[in-house]
Amino acid sequence: MPVADNIIPVKTSLGAYDIILERGAISNVKEYLNLDRKVLVVTDSGVPKEYSQAIASSSKAPYIVTLEQGETSKNINNYTLLISKLVEYGFTRSDCVVAVGGGVIGDLSGFAAGTYMRGIDFYNVPTTLLSQVDSSVGGKTAIDFMGIKNNVGAFYPPKRVIIDPETLKTLPNRQISNGLAEALKMALTHDAELFELFEQGSVNENIDIIIKRSLLIKKSVVESDEREGGLRRVLNFGHTLAHAIESENEMKNLYHGEAVAIGMIPMCDEKVRARLIKVLLKLNLPCEISTVDAERIIKACRNDKKLQGDEITLVYVPEVGSFDFLKMPFSQYERMLREVI
Ligand code: NAD
Ligand code: GLY
Repeated sequence: MPVADNIIPVKTSLGAYDIILERGAISNVKEYLNLDRKVLVVTDSGVPKEYSQAIASSSKAPYIVTLEQGETSKNINNYTLLISKLVEYGFTRSDCVVAVGGGVIGDLSGFAAGTYMRGIDFYNVPTTLLSQVDSSVGGKTAIDFMGIKNNVGAFYPPKRVIIDPETLKTLPNRQISNGLAEALKMALTHDAELFELFEQGSVNENIDIIIKRSLLIKKSVVESDEREGGLRRVLNFGHTLAHAIESENEMKNLYHGEAVAIGMIPMCDEKVRARLIKVLLKLNLPCEISTVDAERIIKACRNDKKLQGDEITLVYVPEVGSFDFLKMPFSQYERMLREVI
């Protein structure tokens, strides 16, 4: 049967789910989600209320929980809070949780839904660009624990994902650029045409295409390697340096996508790098970091979990739209880093 243009089906070992990519979908959710039951709507204080209200007003028995915005909310106390609410409101296995927000709310709510009564239905309604192009798909759920990001979590796919690009109208420009960095990662490694669109086209005018093509790449990667045994590691392109920058940047003044933008630079062939830097500047993404000491960053890269003995496996882009996994001695990676930081 042909699949409608606005639907992207994703296969997983626990069953398939659809991503609905449609302008205005959030006001029309009843058509796509079974909300004729108890519904825990989880959102945060930075997400405009109209989005969680749209879900609640379409639900038979809605309960809204609004957490503080920011990464620090992805914690064990908020996990306990969500589970407590599910117990208090008498949620059963036939009820559901809906995340309305960015990756923080999606990751935390997905983990609560996936563990309550060994898993109840989870719908994700991502409202940041980063969550629309990346985190809402692929079934990774998590909280941060004892200061370590995403170290408690589970693979738990959503029952459905509703992506309404209209929600981006309220998202600050810097958050748009933040999400574009992850879309650029998909383009550099998989889709030369999408990269050319970043070079030549207007991001605003083409945002729906950027979201769709990024999702098609993410779908194909996670369908081939759901649990990150191999291929899915390509989604970590640029992330070794990015994580090191994030951990050493005490000022915490960089968003994740901004750190990824810098992290991709050393991992490309020279010609690709020149093109990448032009696009980063166009998208208002940083190309360098001046507030963190290079020696500290290199030391932090050494702590990366991809290091085995003295060797590290990294994603490298020899040509736009393609990638290799390169295994190299850390000293070689260090030379690549020193060329750019
Ligand atoms: P976020 O969830 O913190 O959202 C960023 C900010 O935007 C928040 O302050 C939020 O209140 C605000 N916001 C959300 N929607 C808005 C809207 N439409 N208008 C105005 N403001 C809005 O950050 P994020 O970048 O979306 O997600 C980052 C998180 O995603 C991290 O915790 C990261 O670990 C996780 N992540 C998960 C995966 C995965 O596969 N599960 C992949 C990548 C990242
Ligand atoms: N964003 C990394 C992953 O989904 O695997």
